[in-house]
Amino acid sequence: MVSSTHMRTVDLIAKKRDGGAHTRREIEYLVNGYVDGSIPDYQISAWLMAVCLSGMSAAETGSLTRAMIDSGSTMDLSGLAGPLVDKHSTGGVGDKVSLILAPVAAACGLQVPMMSGRALGHTGGTLDKLESIHGYSTKMDVAGFCRVIDECGYAMTGQSEDIVPADRLLYALRDVTATVESIPLITASIMSKKFAEGAESLVFDVKTGCGAFMKSLDDSRTLAESLVETGRSLGRGVVTVITRMDEPLGHMVGNYLEVEESMLCLAGDALRPGYAPPADLMEVTLRLTAWMLVAGGIASSVDEAESRCREAIGDGRAYECFRRNVSSQGGDPDRLESEVGARRAPCSRVISAPRGGVLTEIDAYTVGTAGVGLGVGRNRTEDEVLANVGVELARKVGTAVGRGDTLCTVYGETETATDQAVESIARAFRIGDDAPQRSPLVVEERSAL
Ligand code: URA
Repeated sequence: MVSSTHMRTVDLIAKKRDGGAHTRREIEYLVNGYVDGSIPDYQISAWLMAVCLSGMSAAETGSLTRAMIDSGSTMDLSGLAGPLVDKHSTGGVGDKVSLILAPVAAACGLQVPMMSGRALGHTGGTLDKLESIHGYSTKMDVAGFCRVIDECGYAMTGQSEDIVPADRLLYALRDVTATVESIPLITASIMSKKFAEGAESLVFDVKTGCGAFMKSLDDSRTLAESLVETGRSLGRGVVTVITRMDEPLGHMVGNYLEVEESMLCLAGDALRPGYAPPADLMEVTLRLTAWMLVAGGIASSVDEAESRCREAIGDGRAYECFRRNVSSQGGDPDRLESEVGARRAPCSRVISAPRGGVLTEIDAYTVGTAGVGLGVGRNRTEDEVLANVGVELARKVGTAVGRGDTLCTVYGETETATDQAVESIARAFRIGDDAPQRSPLVVEERSAL
């Protein structure tokens, strides 16, 4: 063990590189040193890579989560009536579930304090999506957060300067140093935010597949267990739902594009006559929202909860909650509605099917990384994301295509960026002769409430 009085960052990096286990003090030293600026980016980057390669024990993950929580303040939501339940996804492509789920859960009687993240690696971020809404602010103090939750049943915020600053800093560094895909780092990142935001119980969407950070089901299961274990140690009830992330969820990938698709899923016919929400997106969203109702103690079974969620969408209550939230957080829901179908980046290209057959694959990772190139996410921490760029899939896996049919439309800010994205996205599609074997979207559910 490195003596706590003489800790040197370089020794701790070497210790982790060589497979050693950190003490709680060592982890506190690294986290606090990074937040107060005494340990530079390059050393923490090296340490993060060592963690990625050597892993961490459950005890180390718990210490890291605790040190991250203690790096800032936590929200006191005790004045709210509750039940306070949140959901968090481990990250996917086209994953706009939070935008639909939060108003549905609120319409069903939950209060949802949602603290979300930005785009990470090849996956999009809820905050970046929300900030594509003109005027919408995700920056709030605790009083503002509580007021919005009281007014609309849910509020969407990001980490402020004082809430889990360690995650804000580490998250941005991991995003650009290829150190996202680590079970302990993902666990501590998610659990520290979720603990600090004050939710009483948590539902996790643990993604699995090529578009997820955990590509194999075994790794996704390990992540689910790690979240449950850390949740237990922090006194939170946790549900984990493992869902497939092989093709992008729904039809849209992009910041504003995903807001638009979420609005259509909530409002349906009222916004676009004859609109049919994507089946995969709705299946995952309804299942996770239903689990939230169970976790909050306002439904006794997931099936009963699911039909209540459908009712809340069908009778317009969920969409009304969404509109109210947009107003409460500074946006203009009428303006947002007027943009549906019209707000797109200036350059567009259609990718057509090179042959007829059945669409057997749309590789979510390829679409996600091409999306980063377009500006949906970031290549460097200082990059700005772009609101109106992205990909609109015309077809989903399993559908028949004729030669020349549109597979997707790519929207970019410049001709060059759009052409580059088209070149990669074209490789994401596979067309075969037979319908592909489909595995269930919801793979496994585990309740530790
Ligand atoms: N979501 C998070 O909040 N953090 C991660 O590390 C991955 C997904």
